Parts: sequence; C-alpha cells; structure tokens
Amino acid sequence: MSRVRKAVFPVAGLGTRFLPATKAIPKEMLTIVDRPLIQYAVDECRAAGIEEFVFVTGRNKQVIEDHFDLAYELEATLEARGNKQHELGQTRAATIRTGNAIFTRQQQPLGLGHAVWCARPWIGNEPFAVLLPDELTLSTPGCTAELVNLHDRTGGSAIAVMDVPREQTNRYGIVAIRNDDGTVAEVTGMVEKPKPAEAPSTLSIIGRYVLLPEVFEHLERRDIGAGGEIQLTDAMARMIGHGPFHAMRYRGARYDCGNRLGFLEANVAVSLARPDIAAESRAVIESLLKS
Ligand code: UTP
Repeated sequence: MSRVRKAVFPVAGLGTRFLPATKAIPKEMLTIVDRPLIQYAVDECRAAGIEEFVFVTGRNKQVIEDHFDLAYELEATLEARGNKQHELGQTRAATIRTGNAIFTRQQQPLGLGHAVWCARPWIGNEPFAVLLPDELTLSTPGCTAELVNLHDRTGGSAIAVMDVPREQTNRYGIVAIRNDDGTVAEVTGMVEKPKPAEAPSTLSIIGRYVLLPEVFEHLERRDIGAGGEIQLTDAMARMIGHGPFHAMRYRGARYDCGNRLGFLEANVAVSLARPDIAAESRAVIESLLKS
C-alpha cells in the first residue's frame, strides 16, 4: 500500500478572475456540468487511494464543508420519494466519511506556499498530495494516481508538468530537468513565473504534487517570492538535491478552470464526454454554432 494517504486542497484564494460569481460562492464550488470543481479533485484523490483530506479555506468557504457533509434531510426526502435513487446515490457519493476531512483557515491570502504550510499539523511526517482544484485534470489513471505511483517507485517528491508556449512561461511555475526519459525526468531547478527569455524550459507545473514533509521546513521561512506571495515553488526548489524529485509529463486532459475560457472549455468537453448527455450536448452546441 502507498504511504501517500493524505491530500491538501489549498482553496483560500479570492478567485478575483471570476468576480462577481465568487463574491459569495467559492471558485471551487463552480460546477463542471453537475459536480463542483472541488469534488472532481476529491474523486481524483480517491482514485489514487487517498481518503484523508485537508481543506485550507478562507472566509466565504463554508459551503465546501457543507458539500462534503452528510445531508440528512435531503437524503431522507430523496429516499421518501422512491424514484430518486440515482440522485440519492450521487448525493451520497459526494460525502466524505466522518473524521476524514479537516477544514482549517488561512487567515490571510499570503500565497499558495503559505496555504500549504497551514496544513502541516494534520499532515505530520509523511508524504502527501497537493491538488489545486481550479485545475481540472481528467484521465485514467488519474494524474494524482500517477504521481503516487511515481512516489512509490522513487520515495521522493513528484510533480506533474505540461508543455506551454514559451511566451506564456511568465504565467506558471517552470522546471529545469535532466535524465528525461520522455515521461519522467529529474528536476534540477524550478522558478515561479519566469520571463520567456529566462525560463529554463517550457515545462509548467500544473497544480498536482506529491511532496515529502520536508517542504514544511522550507515554507516555515516565509520567504516572499513572485507577486509578493509566499510561493510553494520556492520551497520546492530548496528541496532539490536533498532527495529524489521528479517531474512527470501529464498526458491527460487538463483545463485551467480559474479563468473563464478554460472553465467554459471544461464544461463543453465534459458534456461531450459524458455518455448520459453527450448526444444532446452535441446537438445544442451544433445548433448554437449554426445560428
Ligand atoms: P490562484 O492564483 O488561482 O489565485 O491560486 P485565486 O485567488 O484562487 O484566483 P484569482 O487569480 O484571484 O482569480 C491558485 C491556488 O492557490 C490557492 C487558490 O485557492 C488556488 O487553489 N491559494 C492561493 C490559496 O489557498 N491561498 C493563497 O493565498 C493564494
């Protein structure tokens, strides 16, 4: 069995690119077809054998906790109706077993690195996954399952990467690599949002990580990085050379749902891929394109 048993979801960001939608609703509760983004991330973890979850939240994020709670009245009503078995199953599938979810608050949005650091008391001294739920990844096996497998082989940290156009490197964390076998490579460096001319490669970090607990020692320094924030990338960069650290090229579908077009694309793609609504979705999209 894998030693990776826990996952952290940093969900304390303000989601400014989706205002006003995110004024009262967290970005992570925006739905792709009929499931909120955060549930895709939890389901991706479950597919990787992870059953314990730490949500690092902020103000206005209580509905995330409600979403994963037992909805007793709703379930009782659906059950009483008799013909809502499918809906009841879907509702129950969203529940996290009691005791397996921790909700902690990042009191100020000081950056992704700081959000991950807030989870340290619940992770302890074991490897753990980090998922940014506004990045949707879809594949079989899932991205996190592949990273967990890689960690189980190497005993080290592992992150998923994808190629981006060079002119976009200043939007992402970018890695430098060696000993590249085409899928997995050793990480030799890492920099947050480098200018295209200074980027060590075009391989960008896509919001899926398996990290050794030593990362907390580096986050403890609270160094300020790109954008004036405490960056996870900077803490990971300091781990390089102190244990195995690998990048895995992710070959599944990935949608950046933190921006409006990526979110739209994800909704269209998932609609077209879902057997229950694929044909109707296609008809709707085709008719809109004709009009
Ligand atoms: P983003 O860069 O997408 O920031 O954060 P954001 O605030 O969510 O959205 P915009 O840019 O204002 O539209 C990447 C991830 O890191 C988390 C976010 O919740 C998201 O999952 N994060 C970021 C935190 O948890 N805390 C922070 O201080 C910053």
